Amino acid sequence: MMVLVIGDALVDQCVWVKKMPARGSDETILSSAEHSGGSALNTSFRLSGLGVLTGFCGCIGDDESGRNLLKKMHDSGIDTSLVRTEPGSTGHTITIIDGQGERTMLSDRGLSARSLILTDEIREKIRQIRLLCLSGYWLIDPAQTEFVIQCAAYARSQGVTVMLDPCPTIRTVEPATVRRILDVIDIFAPNRDELAAVTGTDDIEKSFSTLETVIPALLLKMGAKGSMLQLSTNFPKPAVPGSSRRFRAPAPHVTPINTTGAGDVYNAAFIASYLSGKTPEEWLRDANACAAEWVAG
Ligand SMILES: Nc1ncnc2c1ncn2[C@@H]1O[C@H](COP(=O)(O)OP(=O)(O)OP(=O)(O)O)[C@@H](O)[C@H]1O
Ligand SMILES: [Mg+2]
Repeated sequence: MMVLVIGDALVDQCVWVKKMPARGSDETILSSAEHSGGSALNTSFRLSGLGVLTGFCGCIGDDESGRNLLKKMHDSGIDTSLVRTEPGSTGHTITIIDGQGERTMLSDRGLSARSLILTDEIREKIRQIRLLCLSGYWLIDPAQTEFVIQCAAYARSQGVTVMLDPCPTIRTVEPATVRRILDVIDIFAPNRDELAAVTGTDDIEKSFSTLETVIPALLLKMGAKGSMLQLSTNFPKPAVPGSSRRFRAPAPHVTPINTTGAGDVYNAAFIASYLSGKTPEEWLRDANACAAEWVAG
């Protein structure tokens, strides 16, 4: 196993409608689909599809959704030895997509909100991997936060690179907690809104200089504008002030069909490229190419 991803495993129920129904009204469903979801699980499937030996750690229910997710993980070659099955409901989301492609989402994290403890089994897995990928959704809950911070600190003590996608919920997390997690990760991978939420400014340059001495690698996802990376020269070791290098790559021009999950695809492709020993320019290029292809449908 090369990568362990910790986070939510959900079932996404998507329905397409002409327009969002007004409160109390009735609207016809044009089509519907059900698929696996959760940012972390999406990244895991994509990593595995890119040929990276991947393990998933999270909690599902002993219901039909949970069994289906587990089977899908097995079938995709994902190591499920750290997936916990508990009595109760697997988390799920209901996504309504209107004629303009606007998404409205209802989420119930179900058993994905269950916190775990850092066991010897998890420590042993962490010692085998090269990269630990963490989801910001686990920072919503104090107990899950402690677990994530313990895993990250242990991974780092073992020389494992730790990456965090903060996810949109980072804006609800206490600054002190954000600071604690930033101290134990190597790669911080926000989008523009998430970066602004963490640094308190929309100014990307100011944000980059604020985090320069905190994070060995700051990876910013910028939608159609591609992505940017600020790398400490001794990455993945802690950053040295004034030693960073900056890389920037545009995204291929595509007509977006659906941008949902672009960040997850991006993360997976970035990790795959990083682990295959390529250059930072290639990490960005490979990740943008993969995510843009996804967005184009
Ligand atoms: N319209 C687009 N055209 C080309 N590439 C895109 C487009 N939108 C997204 N991408 C690619 O996907 C990457 C991630 O998208 P984005 O910056 O929107 O991240 P995100 O907001 O974290 O996504 P998500 O909502 O999935 O978490 C971008 O860096 C880019 O490579
Ligand atoms: Mg994202």
